[in-house]
Amino acid sequence: MVLERQMSEKIFSESCACIPGGVSSPVRAFREMSMTPLIVEEGRGDCIRDVDGHEYIDFCMSWGALILGHAHPDIVASAQTQMAKGSSFGIATALENIFARKILSHFPSMEKLRFVSSGTEATMTAIRVARGYTGKPVIIKFNGNYHGHSDSLLVRAGSGVSYLPEASSLGIPSEMVQNTISLPYNDVDAIRRVFSTRTDIAGVILEPVAANMGLVPASKEFLEVLREETAKADTLLIFDEVISGFRIGLSGAQGHYGIIPDMTCLGKILGGGFPAAALGAKAAIMDVLAPIGAVYQAGTLSGNPVAMQAGLSVLSHLEQDGFYTALQKKADRLLNPIEEWIHQHRPNVCLHRLGSMFTLFFGVNKVEKREDLFAADLAAFQRFFHSLFHQGIYLSPSQFEAHFLSSAHTEEHIDKTREAILAFLRNY
Ligand SMILES: Cc1ncc(COP(=O)(O)O)c(C=O)c1O
Repeated sequence: MVLERQMSEKIFSESCACIPGGVSSPVRAFREMSMTPLIVEEGRGDCIRDVDGHEYIDFCMSWGALILGHAHPDIVASAQTQMAKGSSFGIATALENIFARKILSHFPSMEKLRFVSSGTEATMTAIRVARGYTGKPVIIKFNGNYHGHSDSLLVRAGSGVSYLPEASSLGIPSEMVQNTISLPYNDVDAIRRVFSTRTDIAGVILEPVAANMGLVPASKEFLEVLREETAKADTLLIFDEVISGFRIGLSGAQGHYGIIPDMTCLGKILGGGFPAAALGAKAAIMDVLAPIGAVYQAGTLSGNPVAMQAGLSVLSHLEQDGFYTALQKKADRLLNPIEEWIHQHRPNVCLHRLGSMFTLFFGVNKVEKREDLFAADLAAFQRFFHSLFHQGIYLSPSQFEAHFLSSAHTEEHIDKTREAILAFLRNY
């Protein structure tokens, strides 16, 4: 069955006349899926409804931000309460203090943090702090990791950038990236080689669980070697936990792996669906930021009170006993039978999963780094996406993204999705 989507087509075509590509962020255009994108009207729980009235079970969940699902009553109520008291002041509030303490209590690696409005700002500021703190110029990142769209991190990046010829962007002069080195992910030798020859590395930034080339967790050895080499070189190890923070557990990937970074970037879940993100570290590092230190960073909407209230409300749910166990159960219900089926039949598909995140890769048996995906069967992923979409199931619309469960996903919807995925795989 193919869904009729005339209103979506009309709105998208009008949007294309006034917004580049018709969208406010590139992957939303569904270009890689060769179809008119979703134009959403509203969301509730685990479902969204488009402007044509079709309902979809949502496994994108605002790219992982909505761990409690859409329009959770507590988040709506806390945001409304705050909005009635004022939505933005550009002045310090007690809320930032309360929320910062709560976040810090879950991340022993951080003594202080600063709130910003997006993951891009968090990582951009983190590398500026690393350079300011160490006095060194070079940043190491990894191919296929995405840290937002600031100039010096848009080098062989993941997510929507994966489709650009050099996985980078026009408009960034080479001088802006001459101090960025991008290495293959999970490659221990590449790390050792760089640290054996250079002494000018301010920071190494990575997604400890990469989720912007599909889901590709780091190996424990990779993280251990990074920790060891950066410590020896007085280089800051920066975990970009914009996706993994509060997703894998209350203390993110660092808690999961037991590896303590020097700096951490958080976003997405942190703001409960509102624009909020943060970067944090030990006090000595964070105090290089203005107004104490000379590393400048600022923001009109930073620490926005509505986002702080929404974030506090989300955290109070995540802190409840059994929250992550229940989420894992949902993931097991969805993914265990698929994993078993793939194991038994061993087609050219591999399932990567961690907690409530997953990706199915087509045409490859092993994905440890971006380069392993050069052989991926992107046409098969497109067919997979279309097949589920027209059955009312919305996955993240790219092979280079992860899919997300929320606490709002019902057993009925999980079962429907599992059967649709298995049916597709049987015919692949
Ligand atoms: C790991 C990671 N870091 C940073 C960002 C950038 O965050 P934002 O889109 O809020 O700027 C993203 C966005 O998807 C991300 O996945």
